[in-house]
Amino acid sequence: MRVFVTGGTGYVGEPVLQTLREQGHEVRALVRDPSRLRVAGVEPFQGDALDPATLIAVAQDCQACVNLVGVLREDPERGITFDKLHYQATRNLLTACQQAEVRRFVHMSANGAERGLPYAYFVSKAKAEVAVRASSLETVILRPSVIYGGPSDRPSFVGMLESLFSWAPAVPYFSGPGFELAPVSAREVALAIGACLVHPDVAGKTFHLCGGEVYSYKELLRLVRDLGGHKAILFPLPFALARLPAVWLGNQRWFPATADMLGMLKAGNVRPAGAPDFHGVLDVPDDSFKEWLLQGRDGQERPEAEPVEPLARAAPTRELYIPRIEDFPPGELPGAGEKTS
Ligand SMILES: NC(=O)c1ccc[n+]([C@@H]2O[C@H](COP(=O)([O-])OP(=O)(O)OC[C@H]3O[C@@H](n4cnc5c(N)ncnc54)[C@H](OP(=O)(O)O)[C@@H]3O)[C@@H](O)[C@H]2O)c1
Repeated sequence: MRVFVTGGTGYVGEPVLQTLREQGHEVRALVRDPSRLRVAGVEPFQGDALDPATLIAVAQDCQACVNLVGVLREDPERGITFDKLHYQATRNLLTACQQAEVRRFVHMSANGAERGLPYAYFVSKAKAEVAVRASSLETVILRPSVIYGGPSDRPSFVGMLESLFSWAPAVPYFSGPGFELAPVSAREVALAIGACLVHPDVAGKTFHLCGGEVYSYKELLRLVRDLGGHKAILFPLPFALARLPAVWLGNQRWFPATADMLGMLKAGNVRPAGAPDFHGVLDVPDDSFKEWLLQGRDGQERPEAEPVEPLARAAPTRELYIPRIEDFPPGELPGAGEKTS
């Protein structure tokens, strides 16, 4: 099938383009800067998800769209906000896909978009989900946990930790309830997206893309430190103390985390109760985060200094939640409740 992919130059997008090509799809990529597109055999279309006029030509004659546009950090001075990139861009894409009669729309949200909306990142993701569900397309929503194993020269969570370990003599960890992560590989995500394009029974569904291994934040830090050959000391820091500098400095690009990122870390990033394991439904192999670290990004196997085991699969602390238009103040989701065809 012919698939239109947005965000194909990103950490997740590149493996997605590669996988879709390997699966035999014709792939078009919406790109702002064509020189950033590195996957052979993909047709670049220059445009911008915030410029609706550029989208219709890309969507024309496509049977499916995969939307991977996203940002982890706002930069309002450059017009980069969560609301614009997650919500407004998604609405623009839905409209273009509806006009071009694209059939299926696979949308990348985030694990946590369902919780009580305390963070701007999650609010924008939840708003976009409402718009996606309200459209007349066959939609599938994916909510990944933290993703590893994409191109090492693109920003990522593990890459951010590794660069922190490369210079910091001591790195703080937080403990207490929450702070659990279920890392999922970019390969698992790409295979899940490929499956969602063709699966006969996924339209209207939401999948939490969470890996099978769950780690506390401290254990995850130990793994990345030890298997990356770093020496930094880990020390406990009360969460409220860590949040203060993030509130002051989080808008500086050199500072490793924003207050929202820390809040999302505290909220935890594991599969909620009642959410099916996507591996079984979409027939995707369950990769091991620890194995990936043990192999090393340079292909060199690394010895484990002191074994770190994933947590026993602790019972999830939260329930599956699907945001509704009623969750938002009146007028905040213009038109999201109306189906257009
Ligand atoms: N990585 C994770 O751990 C993770 C976890 C949960 C959810 N997600 C979600 O997964 C999706 C992909 O994440 P990622 O890590 O691959 O992000 P990324 O590496 O930052 O890539 C973002 C992509 O969006 C594109 N983009 C940004 N603004 C655009 C615009 N105005 N018009 C068109 N394209 C635009 C970027 O293109 P340029 O090359 O032009 O900048 C890039 O291809 C996002 O929705 C993210 O929220 C990621």
